[in-house]
Amino acid sequence: MALNGFGLGLRAEHYLDILATRPAVDWFEALTENYLVPGGKPLHFLERVREHYPLVLHGVSLSIGSTQPLDRDYLHALRALCKHIEPEWVSDHLCWTGTAGLNLHDLLPLPYTEEAVAHVAARVRQVQDVLGRRILLENVSSYAEFAAAPLREWEFLSAVAEAADCDILLDINNIYVSARNHGFDPLAYLDGVPAARVRQHHLAGHTDLGDLVIDTHDAAVCDPVWALYAAAVRRFGPVPTMIERDGNIPPLAELLDELDLARRIAGAELAEAA
Ligand SMILES: [Fe+2]
Repeated sequence: MALNGFGLGLRAEHYLDILATRPAVDWFEALTENYLVPGGKPLHFLERVREHYPLVLHGVSLSIGSTQPLDRDYLHALRALCKHIEPEWVSDHLCWTGTAGLNLHDLLPLPYTEEAVAHVAARVRQVQDVLGRRILLENVSSYAEFAAAPLREWEFLSAVAEAADCDILLDINNIYVSARNHGFDPLAYLDGVPAARVRQHHLAGHTDLGDLVIDTHDAAVCDPVWALYAAAVRRFGPVPTMIERDGNIPPLAELLDELDLARRIAGAELAEAA
């Protein structure tokens, strides 16, 4: 995995602009589920973007924490897509998204227990066997926790990654959102994650309702999340980082400016550490 630098989430609103202007973005992250149908228009654009940029794939449907069997059709379609566009890596979320054949399209939290670690890690290994590559698991934001949870969230994430031998996509905004909602120290989270497994960062905006912070991805990254990102750079070094915007999608130039801010913050932290 040689990919580095600063990327953006690939959104349909920007396809034409990206192809016409070839912005200074090191790579794009494509949402897996948008490109699983062969021959569609989205796949056409993905292929054209791929001619000029490295890609990574980011999914929302793996449901790695579910007790339902893994969806083999999904995994085989993902494997075929990987063969076709050769992403640098593939990621999904450390969560479950439904049961009894139902996809709730929500990233639901898991109970942070040793039993769940073993369950999820075994499933990650199955996925990695089918895909023939290591995957990255992302920490999700959450609004509720299980009462019987002996592990902290970062201990759970780390234990799954070690047991499954997978890598971690650390979403800095999600750490901030969950820290606010559950009252933990976000720096303790950063300290508790194994640096060697952190391969990517997400940065995003959220909605702050005071008592509740919601991971909406529809606004610019806020100052406390930038500060936490600076701490992440001090802790993990130059990890590939991107801006994740899913709502109120602005013109591409606005996201490029935001990405430049990420570059400057990381550059300043790395220069200070050198
Ligand atoms: Fe994320």
